[in-house]
Amino acid sequence: MRTMLLWMARNRFLKEHLPRLWFARRAVRKFMPGETIEEALDAGETFRPLEIGILYTNLGENLTDLDQAKGVADHYHDMLDKVHARGQDAEISVKPTQLGLDMDAQVTLGHLEGLAAHAAEANGSLWIDMEGSAYTDPTLDLYRRLKAEHPNVGVCLQAYLRRTPTDVNELLPLSPQIRMVKGAYDEPETIAFRRKAEVDAAYQSLCVLMLPHAGRGELRLALGTHDTNLIERIADYARGAGIAIDRFEVQMLYGIRMDQQRRLAKEGYRVRDLIAYGDAWYAWYMRRLAERPANVAFAVRQLIG
Ligand code: FDA
Repeated sequence: MRTMLLWMARNRFLKEHLPRLWFARRAVRKFMPGETIEEALDAGETFRPLEIGILYTNLGENLTDLDQAKGVADHYHDMLDKVHARGQDAEISVKPTQLGLDMDAQVTLGHLEGLAAHAAEANGSLWIDMEGSAYTDPTLDLYRRLKAEHPNVGVCLQAYLRRTPTDVNELLPLSPQIRMVKGAYDEPETIAFRRKAEVDAAYQSLCVLMLPHAGRGELRLALGTHDTNLIERIADYARGAGIAIDRFEVQMLYGIRMDQQRRLAKEGYRVRDLIAYGDAWYAWYMRRLAERPANVAFAVRQLIG
């Protein structure tokens, strides 16, 4: 099922036609407050009393036109202005291929530099998502070049990739900001763990490796996962090592385990909710279905009920 859904995420015909179907539009609302910037910002307001921060991401990937990439960068500048005007505790998270990486890495770097500088004006960070494994090296290259000039930049790393311990060790001397996730793409066994137990074990040991650096303030560490058992095991390890739980943060997606997001925030964890919005939600939504088969049943129920 996971492999089929991830194949569907890449399929061009489905990408063009499925989002037009009303039941798909209804189903996606479970994970997305709306397609417009204002709907995203309004959803962000609901987290303010809960002391949960926000990450905004405007959906879209693999753009094939540099003018469109410029449009995306302009959109994010507008979003940063609006976040600032509302005084929200919010940052943005972007995909390199949405800013032109398939066409021109230098142009992408320019857009990222502009956004990092803009985010810094409000003491915020710019986060860079990690896409499929073909982009790991180019994305880390962009990250290193950006980080040299802009301390307020974070990057996502995927625990399922066998290379990630090496990447972490290479990034640690840069005082990085790292969001650790399990990984959402369909990667071959040769380069990635495919069994959940192996991915979870890799995730935990990577976080154990990074926690002392987070404890000393040399790393901003975000656990990008809804796996609360895993978060609690990592938190137990931190406490045992004398590292307070507010030395790292938890990032989860809008619409997933909202009860746990509220609980963790109440218990003193620093929590951020990632709100995705925009009309290019198809591939992103298919990856959310692939993560949990029960979501497919939910989507089907939108069709029949
Ligand atoms: P796991 O899949 O083990 O799920 C743990 C529990 O969480 C499940 O039992 C279920 O209760 C709940 N859950 C998880 N996914 C769900 C879903 N879709 N619907 C409903 N419930 C669900 N990936 C990537 O490759 N590049 C990236 O840049 C990012 N960025 C990113 C940012 C943030 C803030 C998050 C939270 C995640 C990502 N991801 C990502 C996605 C990540 O790689 C992974 O696919 C998902 O987080 C699902 O894995 P979990 O860690 O939640 O664990």
